[in-house]
Amino acid sequence: MKEKLLEKFKELFGGEGDIREYFSPGRVNLIGEHTDYNGGHVFPCALTIGTYGVARKREDNKLRFYSMNFEDVGVIESSLDDLKSYKEAEWTNYPKGMIWTYNEKGYTINSGLDMLIYGNIPNASGLSSSASVEVLTGLILKDLFGFSDISNQDIALMGQYSENNFNGVNCGIMDQFAIAMGKAGHAIYLDTNTLKYEYAPVELGDAKLVIACSNKKRGLGDSKYNERRSECEKALSLLQKKLDISSLGELSEEEFEANKELIGDEILIKRARHAVYENIRTKKAVEVLKAGDLAEFGRLMNASHVSLRDDYEVTGTELDTLVETAWEQKGVIGARMTGAGFGGCTVNIVKEENIPEFKENVGKTYLDKIGYAADFYVVEIGDGPQILGR
Ligand code: GLA
Repeated sequence: MKEKLLEKFKELFGGEGDIREYFSPGRVNLIGEHTDYNGGHVFPCALTIGTYGVARKREDNKLRFYSMNFEDVGVIESSLDDLKSYKEAEWTNYPKGMIWTYNEKGYTINSGLDMLIYGNIPNASGLSSSASVEVLTGLILKDLFGFSDISNQDIALMGQYSENNFNGVNCGIMDQFAIAMGKAGHAIYLDTNTLKYEYAPVELGDAKLVIACSNKKRGLGDSKYNERRSECEKALSLLQKKLDISSLGELSEEEFEANKELIGDEILIKRARHAVYENIRTKKAVEVLKAGDLAEFGRLMNASHVSLRDDYEVTGTELDTLVETAWEQKGVIGARMTGAGFGGCTVNIVKEENIPEFKENVGKTYLDKIGYAADFYVVEIGDGPQILGR
């Protein structure tokens, strides 16, 4: 693969100069959904699939981007004098946003760039292909421009800053953090309030992580993501009339139940209930996983889906069909939607010997009910971003 990318880069942009190669993973969240902007905990991991990049500094101000996933779009050109987000700029808004963020943070990008990417993460699947491109660009800029004091955690924060302020999606820190800080075989137990984190080994025994992709296309920008976030902020501000808290993640189940009437509105109570209970579920899930109780971990994953379906209302028929059918299959330890929802993927822990029939049965029910096919991927937990060659 690496060779193909380099070849294509040279064909498009010429073979001279200091051309370097990079990789940045995708991510899947095991549990802790829609908690990262509520001061709660998340438990995601980086994957071995992700985005490959080839890049070289230019002498002028031009930015030239090419994606081997969208060959018909061709080279998309821009310049350092035009660091604005446009619909027509498509995926290049992500690298442009990172260049803009570097400048904002005082790391001046003073010359242009040729950059080619290829991703083997299914696009718009909820496995964070966009955060993967952001972290990839963050690493490229750090490396090509010699900003050696920038850490992977800084890159994650800059990715979120770019997403929030350049691309207009009010996302939390989970995706960029999971990708930038990934560690093979481990999930990251992150407190999004303090950014304190811990790596927990994910030992699945004779089971594997299986991703089911609904193929329902969606973008965070046009989803109800920002709406959910503001509903939680509203619920929090109503609770703050009496409680001295700065996020929903600070509440125990009992405190929430004793005070929920302050919120008044039924819908807002449901949203806040999810944020509070999902955070507590995530803490429990990490505990039981560490204790080797995979069955209980799976049950907590299932409960997470129910809460996202009934209280947070971000699942929809496609994800519900995938998950509810998965629950009925032999060898399934846990199944839930992962990521923002409204389409995208589910994450399933399935005994290896049952994976073929799992794919067949869930795939068939999905096709019959939804009218188009789902895709299945058996994934492995991988490392964070890497420089592959110079
Ligand atoms: C998206 C966002 C994350 C997080 C999840 C939901 O992936 O980018 O910050 O909020 O949704 O858990």
